[in-house]
Amino acid sequence: MKTTNYMEDLIKSVRKFTESKDSPPLACVHSFGCQLNFSDGEKIKGILMTMGFGFTESFDSADIIIFNTCAVRESAEDKAFGIIGSVKHLKEKNPSLIIGLCGCMANEDHVVERIKKSYSFIDIVFGTSALDELPKLLLDIFNGKKRAFDTTEYNKPISEQMEIVRDSHFKASVPIMYGCNNFCTYCIVPYVRGRERSRNHNAIIAEVTKLVEDGYKEIMLLGQNVNSYGNDLSDGISFSELLRELNKIDGEFVIRFMSPHPKDASFELIDTIIQCEKIAKHMHLPVQSGDNEILKVMNRKYTIEKYLEIVDYARQQAPDFSFTTDIIVGFPNETEEQFNATLNILRRVGYDNVYTFIYSKRSGTEAASIDDSISYEEKSKRMRTLLALQREIAIERYKRFIGRTMTVLVDDECKSTDGWVHGKSNEFIIVEFKAPKELVGKFVKVKITESKNWAVIGELID
Ligand code: SAH
Ligand code: SF4
Ligand code: F3S
Repeated sequence: MKTTNYMEDLIKSVRKFTESKDSPPLACVHSFGCQLNFSDGEKIKGILMTMGFGFTESFDSADIIIFNTCAVRESAEDKAFGIIGSVKHLKEKNPSLIIGLCGCMANEDHVVERIKKSYSFIDIVFGTSALDELPKLLLDIFNGKKRAFDTTEYNKPISEQMEIVRDSHFKASVPIMYGCNNFCTYCIVPYVRGRERSRNHNAIIAEVTKLVEDGYKEIMLLGQNVNSYGNDLSDGISFSELLRELNKIDGEFVIRFMSPHPKDASFELIDTIIQCEKIAKHMHLPVQSGDNEILKVMNRKYTIEKYLEIVDYARQQAPDFSFTTDIIVGFPNETEEQFNATLNILRRVGYDNVYTFIYSKRSGTEAASIDDSISYEEKSKRMRTLLALQREIAIERYKRFIGRTMTVLVDDECKSTDGWVHGKSNEFIIVEFKAPKELVGKFVKVKITESKNWAVIGELID
């Protein structure tokens, strides 16, 4: 990690350029992918702010555009390249526009090669742990260098120095660890995010305390595998201990976390969630498949029986406990029977929401070398079957809330219905109801009247 002085000197040098303009130059940071990547996007904005940039949401009015990319599936990469291609003409109109690419794609060799060869209008490229190199790369460009790249490292220690420009004034993402050690055979993340690095617990507690003082109502703790938090620290505390410490902070707020890995999910973690009043009674616990053989080839390191023990333990103590999950449909050579086992898991657990992905081959991963006999049409058909089943399950499950009063953190106005807002209940269920938009960012009580397959509908209680 670079020293604070080194960073400060670079930032000062960039400020000389930004302050020489009549008004602050504008930056547009466009993030793709998961919440961890959006959290990195907030840090990139923080660095840009300290360097004297203002912000814009539009590509047309930007002096610098940064694409913070995701590599998890081929479709994510295609989407990023599509949007990046759409700004090429802006660079032709305005040659001083700076275009940058960072995030997970910047740590893939084949992507970096492609950018070097075919995307000459991209000026700067930096990897997932090179965020603090942005001032240096920008300075290189301001000093006349044609292109500036830093994509080699992805395992660096974590800088606690960075400013953050948060996207929301009431919901805050707080990364507690970076990287992943699990190497699920389908997944690119360990190759582009490096090994697990946990933040110091005192730094996390201090950050959350400050956020709550500043009025934040939802704290989302982030990591690729949050429940292995602390395993890499000699003087650390466990994830459950961290949760208990955060629960002691005074104030009206809810603590969430994403994602725990089933292999490390313990009864102790469930006890912690149930005993701590500020922790949401919800767990996003990615199961990926309902078949033990597929789980083994995926290198997930748990069996369905072990997974269900956790679900059953939680539901014994808190029957309302909400589970959501991720499913990969069409892992190489997944048989009809194995797919049916996944449908059975959906029925058995009764998820409140399921995020489903068709398997996407990621070059460099172990699963990429498996010859696959299942057609894409068959995988798409399975995906539709699964989504239809989950819609039925959700509408039934949400009925348990009818007639009850839920505490809801209001997220935003409903786009489709004037005068309505939507928010999330403690269990992470979407709740829609009629209410003024001034309630956005506040906790309110809502009496539930109806169950849909994507949300519950209710009435605001004064
Ligand atoms: N660390 C988290 C998941 C991060 S990636 C966890 O282990 O739970 C988010 C989701 O994307 C994964 O849960 C998985 O369902 C999906 N995913 C990852 N790689 C994929 C691939 N190659 N094809 C399709 N889906 C994938
Ligand atoms: Fe990918 Fe598995 Fe790590 Fe999640 S736990 S990020 S799916 S390798
Ligand atoms: Fe995508 Fe990287 Fe997140 S690959 S899912 S943005 S960690």
